[in-house]
Amino acid sequence: MKFLVAEYKVLKPPGNTSVRNLANLQQSKHLKDESLVVTGTGISPMASLVLRDSSQLTAFKSYQTKLCIPMLNHMICKNMCLAAVTSESQNLASDNQIKPTLIVCRRRGGFGFETRQVIVECFVAKNIPIQLHSLHANVVVDHLAMGGRYLSSRRGVARLHGRYAVPLNFQVTHKATEMVVTWSTVNDTRPMVEGSWVEYGLDVLNLTANSSYSGTTSFRDQYIHRVKLTDLEPGSVYVYHCGSELGWSTVFWFKTRPEGQSWSPMLAVYGDLGNSYAESLTLLQKEAQRGLYDAFIHAGDFAYDLDSEEGRVGDEFLGQIESIAGYVPYMTCPGNHEQANNFSDYRNRFSMPGNTEGLWYSFDVGPIHFISISTEVYYFLEYGFELLTRQFSWLKEDLKIAILAENRALRPWIIVYGHRPMYCSNENTDDCTSNQTQTRTGFMELLGKGLEDLFYDYGVDLEIWAHEHSYERLWPIYNYQIYNGSLDSPYSNPEAPVHVITGSAGCSEFHDPFKSKQPYWSAFRSADYGYNRLKVFNSTHLYMESVCFYVAAYHCGSEKGWSPVFWFKTRPPGHSWSPALAVYGDLGYHNARSLPHLQNEVQRGFYDAVIHAGDFAYDMNDEEGNVGDKFLRQIESMAGYIPYMTCPGNHEANNNFSDYRNRFSMPGNTEGLWYSFDVGPIHFISISTEVYYFLEYGFELLTRQFNWLKEDLKKATKPSNRALRPWIIVYGHRPMYCSNKNIDDCTMNQTRTRIGTPDIMNDGLEDMFYNHGVDLEIWAHEHSYERLWPIYNYQIYNGSLREPYRNPGAPVHVITGSAGCDEKHDPFKSKQPYWSAFRSVDYGYNRLKVFNSTHLYMEYVSVEHHRVSISRSRCTNTQYRSTGGSDTRS
Ligand SMILES: [Fe+2]
Ligand SMILES: [Fe+2]
Repeated sequence: MKFLVAEYKVLKPPGNTSVRNLANLQQSKHLKDESLVVTGTGISPMASLVLRDSSQLTAFKSYQTKLCIPMLNHMICKNMCLAAVTSESQNLASDNQIKPTLIVCRRRGGFGFETRQVIVECFVAKNIPIQLHSLHANVVVDHLAMGGRYLSSRRGVARLHGRYAVPLNFQVTHKATEMVVTWSTVNDTRPMVEGSWVEYGLDVLNLTANSSYSGTTSFRDQYIHRVKLTDLEPGSVYVYHCGSELGWSTVFWFKTRPEGQSWSPMLAVYGDLGNSYAESLTLLQKEAQRGLYDAFIHAGDFAYDLDSEEGRVGDEFLGQIESIAGYVPYMTCPGNHEQANNFSDYRNRFSMPGNTEGLWYSFDVGPIHFISISTEVYYFLEYGFELLTRQFSWLKEDLKIAILAENRALRPWIIVYGHRPMYCSNENTDDCTSNQTQTRTGFMELLGKGLEDLFYDYGVDLEIWAHEHSYERLWPIYNYQIYNGSLDSPYSNPEAPVHVITGSAGCSEFHDPFKSKQPYWSAFRSADYGYNRLKVFNSTHLYMESVCFYVAAYHCGSEKGWSPVFWFKTRPPGHSWSPALAVYGDLGYHNARSLPHLQNEVQRGFYDAVIHAGDFAYDMNDEEGNVGDKFLRQIESMAGYIPYMTCPGNHEANNNFSDYRNRFSMPGNTEGLWYSFDVGPIHFISISTEVYYFLEYGFELLTRQFNWLKEDLKKATKPSNRALRPWIIVYGHRPMYCSNKNIDDCTMNQTRTRIGTPDIMNDGLEDMFYNHGVDLEIWAHEHSYERLWPIYNYQIYNGSLREPYRNPGAPVHVITGSAGCDEKHDPFKSKQPYWSAFRSVDYGYNRLKVFNSTHLYMEYVSVEHHRVSISRSRCTNTQYRSTGGSDTRS
């Protein structure tokens, strides 16, 4: 048993152009879960490694949505290929084809939240920035300016209503002088003397209000606390916190609404915001905290789903929106994703006005009468027809009062929101794509209970929907007929309600594309992620804008047919960002054990690129290429979204690697046999180890690659280049070293790639990589995972005894060929050689993250033995950080 701890020293390793830092080895308690860490300070240029072999996906600690969402376009630097794989194969290399527009940087905001920044920057080829416009985070792509209003029989209601919400969510009640605070705890505070309460006040927490409890969420005990704060000063800022003898929240603040109707409320409006892929979240958080909005409207579909994982997804989601809903009223309506257990998570977690547990209610804000409805009562009839008719009757009554002359004079705007739209032009089979939408016309024996007539008759101005993950604005419409105010100003005095569908705030179900033909009633459509801002200036002017994030979307095809729409993000400019990559080899069509995990992680935005170090499909040319097609179809859900970088393995050798050369599009001019590219602070070199073994295709290939490599490394190690990209990482298929129990070349001492071919003997690669200070060499071929101590010519060059990977004196080799294929595992020799640091035969893959110019981290994920819970995987920085603990190894 060894026990090693971290120590910081700077050593200058001999013979290397790159000076690396010390290493710190952490051995894990579990054989399968051990780690290696390298960090350091030192002399420039410097680099150090952190390797970690973890079999636990659960290392993820925080919301991937905050940290790893692929976002807008990053302008490509050079050479990176994006592979759009269609079933008939053929990648589309989009090198140089991407039209640069927007760049999004991510950085930590002042409140500890991840905020996004969009820099509008234009590039010409070769990434020369020619303009820098602004640091604004969004692009407004659509406006709706309504004037006059539709003058029919409008009357209005005198109710200042509303409670606004937090998990910490707080709601506006009827009066401007009331607010409801809601939070949940896992502890039962009822046995406490005073239960739980809110302390609040204008400057100090000098007032208290006790809470009431309501039920639990659907799967486990959870205590929901609600406190109504009354007699508040209108237009004032209050501070508050909530808790009990068992503990207190942080201090939040909110602003009460001004008195009366003659002010101009501003609201954020959206639907379908999930816990992951919450694309709009960071900007909404930022805007909420900067006081842009008086309230939020979230029109259904939360968290995906509130009840998932026994409510933990709901908890996380509410944690994520706390930075909004702790400060600004958060108004909701139920969507189809809330239906579990008769909407019990929805009913319990939010506190809306009225007495329906938030299913339907209305409230007033300034000159607006808002009505929130449940469209779901038309779809989940198993929870009772009665709900539908109750809502319908209530709506009629509410509208009747709202349009009383004296009420309408005070609040001329009537805005309805609910989850499922009556109209939409998306390419799917949702109800809104049919003409007889259930909410619009009613259905079966409930014909006549449709809502379109009702809203039209009572002069509703605006109807806001979500559900479709896109944005669509309609012309004023009633029963498929357009009622524009006039040809020139369709929204000035329109004669029918205007519909807006805004369900693209971002969630794990991604986008809903549109039908190619836009219907006559659809005024504007966008499939980008985003949300809406709604401002009612006064009794005659309403303004709404759609804020979108550009994600580069593409599809490919021809007159004969088109692929689905995919998206990708380009890399940030420059070198000072931290790329994360998935790395593996030997992934087959059958028994592709790592595939589901990889697909999931790629789509959740964990990675900037994938490296597949040879051996695909087993084999791509089998069954006349059908196996290759099927394999590419399998990886489409990765390679359609992020760059999929490859090198050839022995399984690609058939017909002189022709399937490999044709199906992928790598940088350079060798049809993917060897090439290099840069990603952030890394210079990657991809090589063909196969030129050493399939000599029948020409010895010339070997020497050509050898000479190219020398040139490439020479360039990469020029001090000016090394300063920018201190990390040099090589990947290829067959390892130079391995301790597997078979007769592969790597089990011998004289591996061809290492020392050269039998005839020539001076064209081996180990010397070259060592002399040029290559940091990391990634191999596959053996269906196992093995990590070596820093090694050169069978000699160990650890940085130090305690920190072998800090400033190691030779390259580090990692063999990761167990992604899964029908050839199963390659077991190890029972005796582990002295140069082998860690071995595992589990199926799995590696995650590689280069933090900066001095810290690199790599971990091995086993997909066996440990139950890898996909839905619970989160991505956080700490995932890659050294844990610095006391791990042991047998
Ligand atoms: Fe939905
Ligand atoms: Fe292989």
